[in-house]
Amino acid sequence: MLKGKKALVTGASRGIGRAIAVEFAKQGADVAIIYAGNEAAAEETKAECEKYGVNAITYKCNVADFEVSKDVVTQVKKEFGTIDILVNNAGVTRDGLVAMMKETDFDEVIDTNLKGTFNMIRHCTPIFIRNRGGRVINISSVSGIMGNAGQANYSASKAGVIGLTKAVARELAARNVTCNAIAPGFITTDMTKGLSEDNNALIGNIPLGRVGEPQDIADMAAFLASDKASYITGEVIRVDGGMAI
Ligand SMILES: NC(=O)c1ccc[n+]([C@@H]2O[C@H](COP(=O)([O-])OP(=O)(O)OC[C@H]3O[C@@H](n4cnc5c(N)ncnc54)[C@H](OP(=O)(O)O)[C@@H]3O)[C@@H](O)[C@H]2O)c1
Repeated sequence: MLKGKKALVTGASRGIGRAIAVEFAKQGADVAIIYAGNEAAAEETKAECEKYGVNAITYKCNVADFEVSKDVVTQVKKEFGTIDILVNNAGVTRDGLVAMMKETDFDEVIDTNLKGTFNMIRHCTPIFIRNRGGRVINISSVSGIMGNAGQANYSASKAGVIGLTKAVARELAARNVTCNAIAPGFITTDMTKGLSEDNNALIGNIPLGRVGEPQDIADMAAFLASDKASYITGEVIRVDGGMAI
């Protein structure tokens, strides 16, 4: 249970981030819902969270922007009094073959997925240190473990998130702050819409024989945020139906 905890979840307007925010709320946490631009979707997440009697607030914030993300962390701390759990979930894809990839497509993916994760960790860390505790959960990907053809930018960003997770885990362990990553496989969200036409081939690569749902990731995030995971840090947990075994 996460009763009374204060959580900040990036990319919580849709997909995996929404499932995480709602699961945290269900377990009693107040949730700050960070989104890039889809206000209506963020408001839907907020309404879902509030059904569980917790406080939920939405903030529009480009996590790739160091100063803007700093302001948002300051506002969340002001509103909630503190932050106990940070989930870095905001992410984008700009797929293409490396031989033809535009520089902007590489930069955008690295800026959101990797630098955005750094930015939020950087701004929340002083709060965790003062509190002598905190949880960081970064959403990586099996693409960051295996590498995925057509996703050089995305795979690099998600592998970067794994390195960042391990370094931060080592650095902050003495402060009782844990930092772990989840590596999802194929999860049905807007991000993967249109990638699943050839469903048989896709499912053939998943030993458990099904694609994942956002709730599969939310359950793992809630576990990593809970007291039951207090002795786990620097870990990368695949939630992929066995795809990357
Ligand atoms: N789906 C999968 O199969 C899969 C597999 C492995 C890893 N992942 C990772 O899981 C995470 C969530 O993926 P998803 O499938 O749920 O994606 P999604 O449905 O496309 O949702 C993306 C979320 O990120 C937000 N976002 C995007 N850019 C942002 C920015 N610059 N600043 C703040 N928020 C931003 C979006 O906000 P708006 O709604 O405002 O646009 C939205 O809430 C991503 O990191 C993704 O790489 C997904």
